Amino acid sequence: MTSTPDAETPAGEVVLEAIGLTKHFPVRRKMRDLFSKKHDAVHAVDDVSLTLRRGQVTALVGESGSGKSTVARLLAQLYPRTSGDIRLHGRSTAVKSGSAFRRYCAQVQMIFQDPFASLNPVHTIRYHLTRSLKIHGHAGKTAEDLEKALHALLNRVSLTPPERYLDKFPHELSGGQRQRVAIARALGAEPEALLADEPVSMLDVSIRLGVLNLLRDLKERLNLAILYITHDIASARYFADQTLVMYAGRMVEGGDSETVTQSPAHPYTRLLIDSAPDPDRLTTDIDASDEDRGNGEPPSLIRPPSGCRFHPRCPMAMARCTTDLPVRLEIGDKPGHWAACWLYDEATVAAQRPGSAVTS
Ligand SMILES: Nc1ncnc2c1ncn2[C@@H]1O[C@H](COP(=O)(O)OP(=O)(O)O)[C@@H](O)[C@H]1O
Ligand SMILES: [Mg+2]
Repeated sequence: MTSTPDAETPAGEVVLEAIGLTKHFPVRRKMRDLFSKKHDAVHAVDDVSLTLRRGQVTALVGESGSGKSTVARLLAQLYPRTSGDIRLHGRSTAVKSGSAFRRYCAQVQMIFQDPFASLNPVHTIRYHLTRSLKIHGHAGKTAEDLEKALHALLNRVSLTPPERYLDKFPHELSGGQRQRVAIARALGAEPEALLADEPVSMLDVSIRLGVLNLLRDLKERLNLAILYITHDIASARYFADQTLVMYAGRMVEGGDSETVTQSPAHPYTRLLIDSAPDPDRLTTDIDASDEDRGNGEPPSLIRPPSGCRFHPRCPMAMARCTTDLPVRLEIGDKPGHWAACWLYDEATVAAQRPGSAVTS
């Protein structure tokens, strides 16, 4: 890998977009339901829109089960979608297999949570990287070209000197080194977008930062568009340019990471931040107000709550929240900051006022 694909395209250019992306997994029907018209489905992802830009990291944050991995898999075209659109460089794409799928994968690569599961234990690092380079046509013509490309890949993920790693098996490496190999393999395609699904959550805390810093370095040097999926909103603040928050299959808040993490607008985002350990807040009195906030469990996605899906857990819920699906509302503190929450609809809040007890 000697040059970056499209390194000359300006940072900020839109690479990949999801528009109204929806995925419902059908639930297998029980015998007694066979004659009814009921078709249950897990509403894993509903109406999700996001934009990945060159040279930027977009974080997708939410609790386990909120639909983050499903979004990544849809974007990687590993699942057919129920509805919505995926656009690569502005063009609608729906690929299933064959050469169209390979062309798509060359531009959009995925990195998984568990680097051990994603590498084949019976093959060496050399095998994994060679395969990636060959599939995507970057192995060169001669054995020498290939060797050079392999070294370049390992250098790029700071596994140096490369010859120390090339002929090792995955089990001979640490978790962090395996994840670096998985990243190198993705880079073998010379992609424009990386979809990183909880790339550091299985790694020891002490090496997480190193892998995130590597991804940041790749973003800058290769001008990559990165989707960083995490349940840890504190790491989104550190690592991502934009942050999107997902709850029970729906997007609830978005904006630049600093704003979303420092002035969260949606009650769910506040709950996430309050429950995340943040060294900046360790000196303040944590227990005082948090006792009764946001208790409970994420809802069933087979019959998700009506209106706002967060309303059963929301300490600020109003009557309207139980019936009407919130729309994206501008918060107005920073450009691009929005929340899908009726608290930011003045008419709703005003209508609620007389005689009602809106707590704040
Ligand atoms: N292949 C599948 N079939 C049925 N349900 C699924 C499938 N994949 C995910 N789900 C369900 O979709 C929801 C979202 O899952 P997922 O995208 O893995 O969330 P996250 O990555 O945020 O933890 C969960 O309720 C999960 O059980
Ligand atoms: Mg997941």
